[in-house]
Amino acid sequence: MKNILLLGSGGRECAIAWKLSQSPLCGTFFIAPGNAGTREYGTNLPLSYNDFEGIKKACIEYKIDILFPGPEDPLVAGIYDFFKNDPDLRHIIVVGPSKEGAQLEGSKAFSKKFMARHNIPTAAYHEFTAESFERGVAYIKRSEPPIVIKADGLAAGKGVVIAQDIVEAVKAFRAMVMNQQFGDASKKVVIEQFLDGIELSVFAFTDGTNYILLPEAKDYKRIGVGDTGLNTGGMGAISPVPFAGEEFMKKVTDRIILPTINGLKAEGIVYHGFVFFGLIKVGNDPYVIEYNCRMGDPETEVVIPRLENDLVELILKMSEGKLNEVTVQHSNKAAATVMLVSEGYPGDYPKGRKMTGFDKVKGSHLFHAGTKKSNEDIVTNGGRVLAITSYGDDIKKALSRSYENAEHIEYEGKYFRNDIGWEFE
Ligand code: AMP
Ligand code: GLY
Repeated sequence: MKNILLLGSGGRECAIAWKLSQSPLCGTFFIAPGNAGTREYGTNLPLSYNDFEGIKKACIEYKIDILFPGPEDPLVAGIYDFFKNDPDLRHIIVVGPSKEGAQLEGSKAFSKKFMARHNIPTAAYHEFTAESFERGVAYIKRSEPPIVIKADGLAAGKGVVIAQDIVEAVKAFRAMVMNQQFGDASKKVVIEQFLDGIELSVFAFTDGTNYILLPEAKDYKRIGVGDTGLNTGGMGAISPVPFAGEEFMKKVTDRIILPTINGLKAEGIVYHGFVFFGLIKVGNDPYVIEYNCRMGDPETEVVIPRLENDLVELILKMSEGKLNEVTVQHSNKAAATVMLVSEGYPGDYPKGRKMTGFDKVKGSHLFHAGTKKSNEDIVTNGGRVLAITSYGDDIKKALSRSYENAEHIEYEGKYFRNDIGWEFE
């Protein structure tokens, strides 16, 4: 039995908590800070996932064997190295890469250079800083719109601008590098070619040498119906992805996954855990839009339900470098998730709205995101509130079940997109 501490408080962490807690290998199980949903699977600890000293104390007190960081922040801030450099924590399995490995997500410039070194297909790009501002403007003027401007570092999903003309591109570029719109995260900026295609998310779980592939997924990032309006963390997801057939996935493996895993190893970059490939299919070819060093949200809410293997066992195999011994089992069923959000999201939104109707939900998993327990009630506590995941013989059936149940959950200001998976109907 292994004692586990999972970091995070989103729908992703709720789905991971649900899965971990089903394992016969799961001992005492804590989530920090968790939400109203994760309480059903383990004990929530009132601890920020960025509080490394607090996490250390909890790991010692509760004799934790496995630390599972859900979000990218602690990984990019170096929680793996923090654990491996501390004699009291070194023995603990950390499900995630070293600080250097997490740079695949933490620095767009780092990931672009990595891809260039390993011939991994991605958009053509240049990087610029305040010192090279004028050259950046000249580069924009030579480019064909749309032009993609990206803050180098973590910017809570807001660091990418797709400018429709030169003026907008220069404005976004200036705001980032000259006015430090995202602080240090936009001191450096990547300007890249726009890729026109359809996106999907592919997930590998690696021990640094071997890897297994989890089910692929597609998420829906825009707030509005018909993929309109502002970008969000994700309004829903489906798995499998109908256009990711065998031939296409072979290209993904040969051109992207293998060169990434082998490239990390060849460069001596310590990387265990999840690699999230944010891909785009242009014509029939895959390109990398971005890497993430953790699972996706809300993709996890459909990927994890379709994974039939014991997740704790996979983590132990990862820590032993023996993922080559594992046969991955994916469910034949489709899964879909619909995210209920708070009015105003992704801008400002209210919190503390009482939620009801949980008892009316039938045939779906509810993965809580921004919720918390307040006395006897469950109240909203975030922009993304609840992921409603269902299985089905196909995506359409899974979606209709989630939509039925979305009507049962009630709180003031509830909003969800009613067209998740629309292009596959
Ligand atoms: P990222 O944070 O790099 O994933 O970018 C956020 C979103 O912007 C992506 O999910 C894409 O929808 C879009 N995007 C980023 N880079 C490009 C690109 N080079 N071409 C087209 N769309 C892009
Ligand atoms: N759903 C996209 C992400 O997790 O980054």
